[in-house]
Amino acid sequence: SEILRVGIAGLGTVGAAVARLLHRQAEALTARTGRRIVVTGVSARDQAKKRDADFSGAEFFSDPVKLASSEKVDLFVELIGGSEGPARASVETALAHGKSVVTANKALLAAHGLHLTQLAEEKHVALSFEASVAGGIPIVKTLREGLAGNSIERVYGVLNGTCNYILSRMEREQLSFEECLKEAQKLGYAEADPTFDIGGFDTAHKLAILTSLAFGTRISAQSIDIEGIERVSLADIEAADELGFRIKLLGVAQRTADGIEQRVHPTMVSKNSAIAQVMGVLNAVTIDADAVHELTLVGPGAGGDATASAVVADIADIAKGVRSAPFGLPSAQLSELKRTPMRRHEGG
Ligand code: NAP
Ligand code: HSE
Repeated sequence: SEILRVGIAGLGTVGAAVARLLHRQAEALTARTGRRIVVTGVSARDQAKKRDADFSGAEFFSDPVKLASSEKVDLFVELIGGSEGPARASVETALAHGKSVVTANKALLAAHGLHLTQLAEEKHVALSFEASVAGGIPIVKTLREGLAGNSIERVYGVLNGTCNYILSRMEREQLSFEECLKEAQKLGYAEADPTFDIGGFDTAHKLAILTSLAFGTRISAQSIDIEGIERVSLADIEAADELGFRIKLLGVAQRTADGIEQRVHPTMVSKNSAIAQVMGVLNAVTIDADAVHELTLVGPGAGGDATASAVVADIADIAKGVRSAPFGLPSAQLSELKRTPMRRHEGG
């Protein structure tokens, strides 16, 4: 079978898990796609660092931009992180060289999703980002392909594994915020700068992606009202508990009379509600739509293996020759998203 040569930039939690999964599922992936998927090039900062996967068969590039333009690579997988710097430069380079791109980088998409989509369109290549929202939950495909026959009213949920892990452990074990955050970092859930998690920005980046997919709008994270969980104390969690509530960090996007409203904030949810049962690193996304009415997907929202599951699904699609419009519509048809003033949110 024909070989698909993959370059992976970023060999940390997600990059190593992707390599392990590609290796473990090599035969099944060849059977499913008709191609042999081979990692031919890799990039990271420190070549000497011990990795959680065997990259000895791949050429090492200290500059991810060089990997992105290498003739030895057909598909570029960006797992570095950050909206600028080497992540942005390497993704732009790969697309400009007519190579499809798979990324888990929601910060990059929230900042430059429209521009990158246009670059991909110009070269008729794929830009795929299933892993960028809700880890292992196939929410991008669900919204873009699975619900193509629906008009969507609202999409909301728990979109950050680190925050949900922190809030869950604080409640269950009365641990301090700081201890729980340290654990989440150790487990590979948190962003390199965890302010993105606990400040609500990571949830906002993911919500911006979901909004674009659900409502056919140009991606815009600037129009999101954001409040994180830094100020949620054990006392707040206990007080909510006594009243029959849990505190969850929610991202919500919905149609209103004034346009599409997007917001991120800690919310009191009834302990009897479905969303309150979503504990630990799990994420949940609920979609209200006209034909399907209500649909909820629950699954691991962060961590190497779960995220690799989504990255490998994108790689497999590209191996099969599947190429969707990244945000569901040709970029010229995505409508502008206006900032909509936030209203008070009633708890669930
Ligand atoms: P990570 O463990 O910190 O790994 C980042 C990797 O990028 C490291 O291998 C690092 O190299 C490499 N890198 C950093 N700067 C570089 C540069 N200038 N040139 C080449 N390589 C460079 O991060 P991660 O958790 O795997 O996350 C990667 C991406 O996936 C991020 O966009 C993140 O938001 C996203 N994501 C993560 C998760 C998760 O659960 N972790 C889930 C979904 C999405 P060294 O190893 O040499 O330092
Ligand atoms: N830091 C992110 C989270 C990784 O905790 O949800 C998954 O996108």
